[in-house]
Amino acid sequence: MIVRTAILELLKHNSGQYISGEDISHTLQVSRTAVWKHIRALKLDGYEIEAHPRLGYALRQNTDRLLPAEIKEQLTSTVLGREIHYFSELDSTNNEAKKLAANGCPEGTIVVAEAQVTGRGRLARGWFSPHGKGIWLSVVLRPPFNPMDAAKCTLMAAVGVNRAINAVTGAGCGIKWPNDILWQGRKVVGILTEMSAEMDAINHIVIGMGINVNIEQQEFPSEIAATATSLAVASGCQVSRVKLLTTILSELETVYNSVKNAGFAPVLADWKTQSITLGQQVDVHGIDRSFGGVAIDIDVDGALLIETTQGIERVLAGDVSI
Ligand code: BTN
Repeated sequence: MIVRTAILELLKHNSGQYISGEDISHTLQVSRTAVWKHIRALKLDGYEIEAHPRLGYALRQNTDRLLPAEIKEQLTSTVLGREIHYFSELDSTNNEAKKLAANGCPEGTIVVAEAQVTGRGRLARGWFSPHGKGIWLSVVLRPPFNPMDAAKCTLMAAVGVNRAINAVTGAGCGIKWPNDILWQGRKVVGILTEMSAEMDAINHIVIGMGINVNIEQQEFPSEIAATATSLAVASGCQVSRVKLLTTILSELETVYNSVKNAGFAPVLADWKTQSITLGQQVDVHGIDRSFGGVAIDIDVDGALLIETTQGIERVLAGDVSI
């Protein structure tokens, strides 16, 4: 693996120019056959490498896979993403992250998969997670907060992700309470936060993010085709998943540090400026009741306040449609 990484570095350093197999073998003190085998493995990892019988090898296109080496190259966060668990396919990144967290993995550990077979959404729904087209990501946090504050972590995550998405794509997405990210009324990101806690302390929180990145509109299954879309559709071009993922980790780390230093108030204020729910007539589908009203604010706990004909209703969990 060290040799493979070194070959890749040589190819990247040569920025598209050919480098001979003999030069690689000489520089790294490995056989020509070993060089050839590593080149083949790199091609299987999605790197486009041109092989010329006389000139050698040239890197034509970087891989679009979310490989740990590619993530690390662009990572600017200091804690989030320092330990990366990468899978081509997984049942659910949240399931894997919860296992790792229970076994004591460090804070900031991330799990990322190219595809999820049984991706999970909020309210026991599934999550469409096709291969190589999105970011299916879970982050393990060990926040020093009271378990009562966990619901606000989900708003915190939405603020970080929305900032990152708008910075990278310029798409102009907004947050629907509590933590869906929408573009022109269609969902591009869903967040599923799961917690393990004692009465007075959080053991860990897993923040699972499903980001529809390069999915064509016609690729969505019929059940969600009218309500979902992707960043590629929103921005009109393909989006670099590695760039977006590393920006998300950086923004998430910034909001997380801000909450640890200054409490939730600044992040909740930020959430309000990015909200597309406040000021809207909404329908609330709670666990045991449904009603309509105008979403007027969120309170210090992150609960949505709805003005109804009966007075102000406070919603801490459930689904809201605009
Ligand atoms: C929602 O219903 O809006 C939340 C969707 C969350 C999906 C993500 S994809 C990565 C992580 N792993 C899962 O199984 N779910 C979350």
